Amino acid sequence: MKAAVIDSYGGSDKLVVREVPDPGPPGPGQVLVRVRATSINPFDRMVRSGKVRFLMPARFPLILGHDAAGEVAAIGPEVTRFQPGDPVFGGVDVKRHGGSCAELVLIREGALAPKPVSLSFEEAAALPVSALTSLQALRDKGGLSAGEKVLINGAAGGVGHCAVQVARALGAQVTAVASGRNQQFLRELGADETIDYEEEDFTGRDEQWHVILDAAATLQYTDCEPVLARDGGVYVSTVPGPKLFVWIALTTLGGLFGQKKRARTILVKQRAEDLAVLARMADQGKLRPHLAEVYPLERIAAAHDHSESGHVRGKVVVRID
Ligand SMILES: NC(=O)c1ccc[n+]([C@@H]2O[C@H](COP(=O)([O-])OP(=O)(O)OC[C@H]3O[C@@H](n4cnc5c(N)ncnc54)[C@H](OP(=O)(O)O)[C@@H]3O)[C@@H](O)[C@H]2O)c1
Repeated sequence: MKAAVIDSYGGSDKLVVREVPDPGPPGPGQVLVRVRATSINPFDRMVRSGKVRFLMPARFPLILGHDAAGEVAAIGPEVTRFQPGDPVFGGVDVKRHGGSCAELVLIREGALAPKPVSLSFEEAAALPVSALTSLQALRDKGGLSAGEKVLINGAAGGVGHCAVQVARALGAQVTAVASGRNQQFLRELGADETIDYEEEDFTGRDEQWHVILDAAATLQYTDCEPVLARDGGVYVSTVPGPKLFVWIALTTLGGLFGQKKRARTILVKQRAEDLAVLARMADQGKLRPHLAEVYPLERIAAAHDHSESGHVRGKVVVRID
């Protein structure tokens, strides 16, 4: 099969498209997916550059990519929910290196769901990591409920632009933060209010939010604490770090003594039930990914460079045909 591989860590110039052996027949609980599209996530670039090599040492050649949309090519023993030919979307667990930037990939049945009928393969491939992160961060980590106020920092990016739509679908009142050039985009996504971070620092406002999702991870818990709701506001960051872990521990401990504000982080889980929630939102017209650009597999390096700009509007997608 054709795949985008790296033979050593480094920049996007290390990505090569070439023939590699097929993944082999699916094992118990596995589905072999013929990939029609994948999308680029910051984590793919971290794996490529070697930034996470101490946590996840690679065996080269390595195929990158965590998101996938395509058709079931074959099912392994114990797979009950899919048949060859079914259109599906889902992904490789982020605790692994990836592997969906290829014509075929093996995925756990529990990390796959039927593709939303209203989305193309390219659109569906934009969802798994980004939209699952936004859903699990807002609903599970933030405990966001209908009618509550949520602020999304980094609302124009892969995670953020899904989070604006998911938060609206959950019935929340959404404040979305991005640069000046993305203000109209945020309104089109359905944000109730938008803030241009180049013009205003929202943490200085005399206002409070029940959940602050720091999708861009440009802030700290201590920046946001003054604008978290006093009766139990939650700050959720997409990027864990030593300072955040201290605040997670302190606010959890403080909870035993009546402190209500919390710091949290998220590690996305590819879960079929949550993919089905997203598919429902998409088919109800509540969630539609914005594709910044769709690249053919042969231009995988350009797709990584585009993502690396740090100012992608929506998602960078790679078509595999
Ligand atoms: N823990 C997990 O499971 C998990 C899962 C997915 C992603 N992540 C992490 O979450 C982060 C975001 O991922 P992503 O896919 O959304 O990345 P992305 O698509 O590359 O995000 C780009 C966005 O960041 C915005 N941005 C840049 N500087 C900003 C600032 N100072 N303030 C507010 N927004 C700013 C940009 O908006 P402007 O162009 O308007 O500046 C752009 O739209 C990454 O660090 C990623 O590794 C973690």
